[in-house]
Amino acid sequence: MFYPEELVEEVRSKSDIVDVVSGYVRLQKKGSSHWGLCPFHNEKTPSFSVSASKQIYHCFGCGAGGDVFGFLMNYENYTFPEAMKILADRAGVQLPEPQEGEEGRVREKKRARLLEVNKEAAKFFFYQLRSPRGEIGYQYLEKRELSRETMHRFGLGYAGKSGAEVVQYLHEKGFEDEVIKEAGLASYSEKYGLKSLFWNRVMFPIQDRNNRVIGFGGRVMGDGEPKYLNSPETPIFDKRRNLYGLNFARMAKAGNMILCEGYMDVIAMHQAGFTQAVASLGTAFTAEQAALLGRYTENVLLAYDSDGAGVKAALRSIGILREAGLTGKVINMKPYKDPDEFMKALGREAFEERIAQAENSFFFELRILEEQFDMSDPEAKTKFHREIAKKLCGFSEAVERENYLQAVADKYFISVGNLRNLVEGYAAQTGLAKPVERPKTGVRKKNPEENVKRNQRLLLTWISDEPALYDKIKTYISADDFKEELYHLVAERLFGDLEQGKFQPASIIGMFEDEEEQRLAAEIFNTNLPRLESMQEREKAFHDILYQVKSSSYQYEMTHMETSGKTFHQMVEGKQALEKLRKTHISLE
Ligand code: UTP
Ligand code: MN
Repeated sequence: MFYPEELVEEVRSKSDIVDVVSGYVRLQKKGSSHWGLCPFHNEKTPSFSVSASKQIYHCFGCGAGGDVFGFLMNYENYTFPEAMKILADRAGVQLPEPQEGEEGRVREKKRARLLEVNKEAAKFFFYQLRSPRGEIGYQYLEKRELSRETMHRFGLGYAGKSGAEVVQYLHEKGFEDEVIKEAGLASYSEKYGLKSLFWNRVMFPIQDRNNRVIGFGGRVMGDGEPKYLNSPETPIFDKRRNLYGLNFARMAKAGNMILCEGYMDVIAMHQAGFTQAVASLGTAFTAEQAALLGRYTENVLLAYDSDGAGVKAALRSIGILREAGLTGKVINMKPYKDPDEFMKALGREAFEERIAQAENSFFFELRILEEQFDMSDPEAKTKFHREIAKKLCGFSEAVERENYLQAVADKYFISVGNLRNLVEGYAAQTGLAKPVERPKTGVRKKNPEENVKRNQRLLLTWISDEPALYDKIKTYISADDFKEELYHLVAERLFGDLEQGKFQPASIIGMFEDEEEQRLAAEIFNTNLPRLESMQEREKAFHDILYQVKSSSYQYEMTHMETSGKTFHQMVEGKQALEKLRKTHISLE
């Protein structure tokens, strides 16, 4: 690992996870935990819990979980050293310079350097636009009706006619060719040497959600190819995971996000007051971007171009949004081509109306589908109705499917009964009739191995809630009763810590470097315990769980006697211990 363990522990112990998470998620204290809407999946009722005593978070809905470092890494996409740095700063812990030659340090340093060179380049372009040499760029943007403030807010710039100036400027600022090239700002050729990628273009710096410049888009003035030139992917520019305008949109709190196709669309929308507008980065909208939007809202409005390409892109994005559990609606831009032109022609209030009238994405899909069928031909019309039935089968929730069925029947003048017959017929054929079960944590189907692990989780959660219990049960149970590796490691460490009077589930999670392992470890400490009123019921429940864990351990050893190296005598002893536990009363008082 990158930092010494004691230092990681120091930072952890000085960082209150409830405090840190509260910076991102509104939490409410209920019982022994804090609860809020999970930032890692979309939900309407809180199933995301943060425990102050355990210093871990866990979502009962999507299973996300981990310690305070894991939270920041998950939420902000930070690397471990980045999370460490942020938390150390916050807690006032001085971090040593990590040792030379560390791979992680090199990577971090490079990222930092790339961010610096981008920032410096953005500054250069910015001043160019406002200098006499950039007049042509400035006039272009004015003609497109951007105000000076808007140009300022988005940090717009201009790359001059010769591609040499920016390179020269960056050299003067102390950046080496290597960094300039790796940032995608320039490329090397025999003939011209190091030459800027962007020239004679107005420049749109692309910022991540923390306002750091991670790349650029440059638009040619007038006609020319390509119309927009974008920075290539670099270690800091991941086009799949960022959205143009998100640095502002994340603060908009409009109750929705508006997804546009182009940079100019976003800027025009913001200028008109719709600061919740974002766009993908010169590439098609991705599932990662949908997940990113899902952190802020579940309502996404598509403001795509009204032409054929725009409709196609909208259909694609609707599918991606739906996969991510978000509700998509489509804003009609007609008779204008895109939000930018719409805004110029009709302005803010007209757009508000269009938002209010935005079309449900399912109806949008049907409307587009309908165009392929000749409704005056009964055969084609039947085919269309069959297609509708097929699509209705896509709703896994019966209530939702029924609601849509009725609305669609109404809209397309089909009898509800006929349409339902079609849906049921189609569903029976394809086996789609039953709602597709989404995996949920909690009670699962009868799966013996899962049941064993569930009991183990219940036991470890209970002990972590009431550490004093450990002393009462330690003669009956040990880490060896936990057969699966991850569970064994967690139990071993937990019992070891408790033995020494230490108790910190969060640092146990910190043993695991893999995100998935951290998530599973957090789950172990966050199983839903039975809510029982009387002490008698509680004692019985606890005893049952403990006995089940011990009993499965015994059964496991019975079936694995040959490989486990246990002797017959040991097995007899094990049976006796199990019997003894069965008869023992364990008091929880
Ligand atoms: P559009 O051509 O719709 O852009 O492309 P726009 O914003 O309406 O452009 P203006 O109004 O003519 O200036 C939408 C987006 O597709 C990407 C850019 O991200 C652009 O914002 N694009 C387009 C490219 O990356 N390269 C291109 O050559 C064209
Ligand atoms: Mn446009």
